[in-house]
Amino acid sequence: MGRKNVKVGYIRYNSDMIDKNTIPLANHPTVFVIFGITGDLASRKLLPALLALFVKKLLPTRFAIVGFSRRSFSREEFRDLIRENIKIKQGQFKEEDVKHFLDHMTYEQGHFDFVPAYTRLAETLRFIDERWGQCSNKLFHLSVPPDLYQGILTNLAGSNLTLPCDDRTGWTRVLIEKPFGNDIVTARSLDRLLGKLFKEEQIFRIDHYLAKEALQNILAFRFDNPIFEPMWSREFIDKVHIKLFEKDGIENRGAFYDQIGALKDVGQNHILQMLALIAMGKPRSVHALDIRRERLIVLKALKNIDQHDLSKNVVRGQYNGYSSESGVSTQSQTETYFRVETRINLSHWKGVPFFLESGKHLAESRTEIDIYFKKGRRLTMINGSDSDKFQDQNILTFRIQPDEGIRIKFFVKTPGYGFATEARTLKFKYGDVPSFNDIPNDYEKLIHDAFIGDQTLFASTEEIMASWEFVTPILENWKVLPLKIYEQGTREVE
Ligand code: BG6
Repeated sequence: MGRKNVKVGYIRYNSDMIDKNTIPLANHPTVFVIFGITGDLASRKLLPALLALFVKKLLPTRFAIVGFSRRSFSREEFRDLIRENIKIKQGQFKEEDVKHFLDHMTYEQGHFDFVPAYTRLAETLRFIDERWGQCSNKLFHLSVPPDLYQGILTNLAGSNLTLPCDDRTGWTRVLIEKPFGNDIVTARSLDRLLGKLFKEEQIFRIDHYLAKEALQNILAFRFDNPIFEPMWSREFIDKVHIKLFEKDGIENRGAFYDQIGALKDVGQNHILQMLALIAMGKPRSVHALDIRRERLIVLKALKNIDQHDLSKNVVRGQYNGYSSESGVSTQSQTETYFRVETRINLSHWKGVPFFLESGKHLAESRTEIDIYFKKGRRLTMINGSDSDKFQDQNILTFRIQPDEGIRIKFFVKTPGYGFATEARTLKFKYGDVPSFNDIPNDYEKLIHDAFIGDQTLFASTEEIMASWEFVTPILENWKVLPLKIYEQGTREVE
């Protein structure tokens, strides 16, 4: 794969040369267009992130947000709605900042499948450029259900909005949310469409987990601490358990979620990306091409789970009460929980099970990755409770959220006359370090990186296809498995 050039402002950069030690600033005037601005994702994630970047002065001095949606609003109604919708923590932003931020926003009413609406959008964007006296960059974010992607992308291209204003300035980029397709077939067809309309360096496929600070820290921890890397293989590692547990249910997303289910919602993307970061080899550098290349090697090497192995390796569950949620079919067989055991077909991971587990309405919200080290021949007896199933194993845990950090379970001698040991924990918690408290949130980072053209924290098309290659056979076969109904708030789905 050749190196890609991206344009940042007037200067042509090679994305591999972006300096990761300073915060690169996007200074060229930019318009951020949000399709589906009144929706849940825009309110919960995008707009608060844009507001935070605005307050931190990490947006270009000249920037505009154009919201595109079906409903019609007056300017004032739109401002009030956005103010109301942005679910910002009390006191997080000054009223004055919010007001200035809202001054950068305009609204364009239109139906997503109505071609003249795109002509109007193009006029609005041209008008902004004229006001600025300059051809601006354009970022298009699709904050809509995936079945609308094809229509929006085609209409965008049809109205020439995907083309830069000229050769030197005014790039256009498109940000696409997961789920990227519904299976390998639909993912390929979306990919073909994108390939016809955009160049790869214009496409930013979002998996917001990649932008979580504690996830990025996995690479720093693994590759900047040479003491661990020699142990990072089947020789020392017994098993890996990746968990994304959520206390909440599906909230108000019933109709959408019921078509998707947990494995597509968080398994095909967030969990497999966590697995890739844990199992990948050392990249040549911290830049996009090198890191994506290593993640891809792992994703492509995932062992497919065929029909024979299903009942042994896969559990699917649904929380009690799910089928009475609004928007959900009363007969629904959609899973809200899964546990999958897989392997990686790479010699240094041979035989090491990777457990991937996620569920809604579990006892707590906790995302973490446990690396269990093999039990060596012990010198001493272990004191401790028998209820600790893993009492004689060292475990390294990456806590992704909440309470980001890392901990290692190890053994110390129990003080006294005898010689027995007991388990203790070495802990590093971001929250204990004052300067680590200001963690930029995932969407802030993603938007910032899309502005500067750095694709490291975005999934490549090959990674997405490899993930679907793994997940699709499970989805095709697993309806034969019994759906375990579990109680809300449960600690373990048996
Ligand atoms: C989203 C899923 O991608 O990730 C949600 O659609 C899930 O169902 C969410 O709740 C979890 O993300 P986070 O950042 O809240 O852990």
